[in-house]
Amino acid sequence: MRIEYLAKPFVDVVCDMLAFPVFEGETEQSASLRNLAKATRGTLNLILHSGEFKAELHKTSCIHKPAGLKARRLLLVGAGKKGTFDPAKLREIVGVSVRAARSFRCKTVGFFLHPDQLVPFAARVASEGAIYANYESDIYKTRNREAKDVEQIFLIGGADKRKGEFEKEIGQGIIVGEATNFARALANEPSNVLTPSQFAARAITVSHKSGLDVQVIERDEMERLGMDALLAVSRGSDEPPKLLIVRIRGQQKKSLGSSPLYALVGKGVTFDSGGISIKPSEKMEDMKCDMAGGAAVLGAMAALAQLRTQRRVIGLIPAVENLPSGKAVKPGDVVKSFSGKTIEIINTDAEGRLIMADALAYARSLGATQLIDVATLTGACVIALGKVNAGMMGTDLKTMDRLRGNINITGEKLWQLPLDDDYREAIRSEIADMKNVGGREGGAISAAKFLQEFVEDTPWVHLDIAGMDLDHDGRPYACKGATGFGVRTLVQLFH
Ligand code: BES
Ligand code: ZN
Ligand code: ZN
Repeated sequence: MRIEYLAKPFVDVVCDMLAFPVFEGETEQSASLRNLAKATRGTLNLILHSGEFKAELHKTSCIHKPAGLKARRLLLVGAGKKGTFDPAKLREIVGVSVRAARSFRCKTVGFFLHPDQLVPFAARVASEGAIYANYESDIYKTRNREAKDVEQIFLIGGADKRKGEFEKEIGQGIIVGEATNFARALANEPSNVLTPSQFAARAITVSHKSGLDVQVIERDEMERLGMDALLAVSRGSDEPPKLLIVRIRGQQKKSLGSSPLYALVGKGVTFDSGGISIKPSEKMEDMKCDMAGGAAVLGAMAALAQLRTQRRVIGLIPAVENLPSGKAVKPGDVVKSFSGKTIEIINTDAEGRLIMADALAYARSLGATQLIDVATLTGACVIALGKVNAGMMGTDLKTMDRLRGNINITGEKLWQLPLDDDYREAIRSEIADMKNVGGREGGAISAAKFLQEFVEDTPWVHLDIAGMDLDHDGRPYACKGATGFGVRTLVQLFH
């Protein structure tokens, strides 16, 4: 999809569909609609007074052959209430426009940038929204796959001549949008395709395109390093585990001095059957997405490399498959983790925290001074917060504040859960340093308490994205399936 900034009046833009945002309560006399009302000679007034379009967020109304415009269609897009509008909602309504264009088989789309949001940054989020919406998860369909992709978007800035600044933001938006779709495509892959080895192969492919260096730690090296928590999870599978270390090329040589080294650690369970503590079959297929945290870390790293971030960041992705077999780890087994701490494995379905424990401790051994982990860790988090907010826990209060402050930009909602030391009791083991489950009560928190044992005193944020990674319903601005949740949150933090 090409995205272009146009500093010319919307009436002159030739395209299959011109999308025009409208806020609730705006009338033909409102500053942003006056010109449209004049150009369309009564049609706009007709619609606004008909009552069928009230400009609620994501609602649309389409007019064919609008008078006074060179566009073939005019799409009014509800932008909701002006007072609560933010960049995240702009991203969504651009996405709504692109989804509408796809369903009408429109190839070229103009999007009118509302005078109230006419800043170059708007072009960035608009570009992200357009690219996100143009993605479809249909690569395995061999029939009835229509070419619905929108090919060209014009962002229309009217009289604003800051073309260079808008174009720079568009370039960044394309990078972030494509990185998000990359993460979605990875998470949507079935587990027979995306094995840990294939995850590593895809990471290497994307590294060439985006300027990353990927190091793959293989099983024998994990054995030498003593990563027995990670190895325990992978033992039931014939697929070998991989620990991916992702660095931004050239960053080691650069004189970024002794600035903090952030490690982004993403859970990469390519399929989570539960292992010997096997899951019920209902919805087990969703567990092909149990590597969504890892995909988000890889997508974010690819974007950050292309955006030439000045922050020191590395990515770690422990990639394994969790299956039952004659070799699988069993409830009651005790393993010694990379950190030296011992773990009694009560439930083999609490595998995410085991692989993350070794990856987090390994990140510290690489010199990470700040840790951020992203994981589809607990069903308990979905019970607590639904599929609206991801759970956020940790000890790095400053970073958590920044993450919270960015929600109106990223649109990725986070809700902080407590992490009092009282919760530690739940994972006390009689025979080892800790056990890997803490019971049903406060399950998202006891999982985080488990991880905390391995981050020790390094400032740390844990994002439990269970439930956020996969959208079964679809959205007016996105297809069903993987969401790429976490990519924008991580990128925004370092941008
Ligand atoms: N991958 C799951 C968590 C999950 C559940 C992600 C639903 C997305 C949607 C994780 O490995 C898991 O199985 N957790 C268990 C932990 C329990 C055994 C303590 C859970 O949440 O049931
Ligand atoms: Zn599990
Ligand atoms: Zn899992």
